[in-house]
Amino acid sequence: MFHAVVEGWGAYVPAHRVGNDELPAQLETSDAWIRSRTGIRQRYLAADGELTSDLAVKAAEAALVRAGIGADAVDLIVVATSTPDHTFPSTATAVQRKLGAGPGIAFDLQAVCAGFAYALTVADQFIRLGQAQTALVIGAETFSRILDWEDRGTCVLFGDGAGALLLRAAPGPGAPDQRGVLASYLSADGRHYHDLYVDGGPSSTQTVGHLRMNGQEVFRHAVTMLSTSVHAVMERAGLPLEAIDWLVPHQANKRIIDAVGKRLHLGDDKVVVAVDRHANTSAASIPLALDLAAADGRLQPGHLVVVNAMGGGFAWGAVALRW
Ligand code: ACO
Repeated sequence: MFHAVVEGWGAYVPAHRVGNDELPAQLETSDAWIRSRTGIRQRYLAADGELTSDLAVKAAEAALVRAGIGADAVDLIVVATSTPDHTFPSTATAVQRKLGAGPGIAFDLQAVCAGFAYALTVADQFIRLGQAQTALVIGAETFSRILDWEDRGTCVLFGDGAGALLLRAAPGPGAPDQRGVLASYLSADGRHYHDLYVDGGPSSTQTVGHLRMNGQEVFRHAVTMLSTSVHAVMERAGLPLEAIDWLVPHQANKRIIDAVGKRLHLGDDKVVVAVDRHANTSAASIPLALDLAAADGRLQPGHLVVVNAMGGGFAWGAVALRW
């Protein structure tokens, strides 16, 4: 029997930082509007030719260095992304090739903004079943490539980036007071398919398409789904909400994050916010926020961390882990 322990983490954002005031003038938006509605101050955008796999590799390399593990030891790579380099093969195999890892298991997982919670759950289960020992779980996105840059209601909200966790198998089933992944909860409800979607794809239009969103409907459901997922995962972990040291939510909107914190009675000192600096990087937002909190010393070994996310589908979920 095994359980998955976080041994390394890393993140990467592209060099090109774009503040709210630097967005194209024809968008007719403002720093004040964006900040007050979303909390976003800036985003990073990938350079021409800079691919999702390039961002993923930089984040993965940082995680490997931190863990002191060579790429040759990695036997599972899961890349959560909705913006793959190509329709196929998977971005995970591009990462594997660029890292010099493998042969081993490598695949992409598409659950949009909930992708990292889904990927972490899946990697944990591979490790629990003894089918992988050393896993890179990566969230990586170049959402700038699927934005309609003439739609101010969506394009101001997103950015590009990547983050990674390196998981290793540790003996035994794990226990709430031990480091490692403790529990997860995932769900989806396809009745909301058209509230947040991309209007292209290989099977439907043979184009890449652009992100479309019913923002108010997303907002309304996000707060409920993000809150209930934390209750559900803590129940599965057999721990009370008060045991949470850090909630690291998907970084879509500061107002959503605040509303969820309030519902869960978690003070601002227990909730990691990174949306101000990264905007919404979809599947990358949680590992980017984890990296931020670990780098500045907030996140310490032994802390009880809950990550939770919600996005297109709708798909949502949470993972509880001891850092
Ligand atoms: N700048 C200036 N004005 C804008 C902008 C902008 N960037 N975008 C929209 N507006 C205008 C609208 O045109 C509208 O003008 P009108 O009243 O003249 O028609 C006005 O602002 C209000 O628009 P609403 O859409 O009603 O604004 P709302 O207060 O709902 O805020 C927002 C929009 C920020 C998108 C909000 O609905 C939201 O946060 N939704 C959650 C969506 C989200 O975070 N999605 C991320 C992906 S999903 C996920 O990751 C969970």
